[in-house]
Amino acid sequence: MVDRVAARLQSAESQGPIDKEISVPEPTPKPRDEISLTINGRLVRVAESTTVAAAVIGAGFPSFRRSVRHERRGPVCGMGVCFECRLTIDGIVVPTTCQLACREGMVVTTDG
Ligand code: FES
Repeated sequence: MVDRVAARLQSAESQGPIDKEISVPEPTPKPRDEISLTINGRLVRVAESTTVAAAVIGAGFPSFRRSVRHERRGPVCGMGVCFECRLTIDGIVVPTTCQLACREGMVVTTDG
């Protein structure tokens, strides 16, 4: 077994160094398109695929809703588990906006 491995190594070495150049294309990040949505009456532009929760926080609205004790509430988990990121989008209450990508023309309203 050792002899066979040594023979293969000798054979590979006798072929000389690999001079074939491999070209690897540079990763070029595609510029993301921007979309517009309205958050609490304010027109906001965000990168495509931004989540609604991220857009709302980025627009300066950290309070998404009020608890039954009127405490301000906002996203906690960011992965669709806690439902603290509930918002009203186009008149419909959406419980997990941290999992929803923004769409052009969305009208988002916080309740907080
Ligand atoms: S932040 Fe927890 S469900 Fe969205």
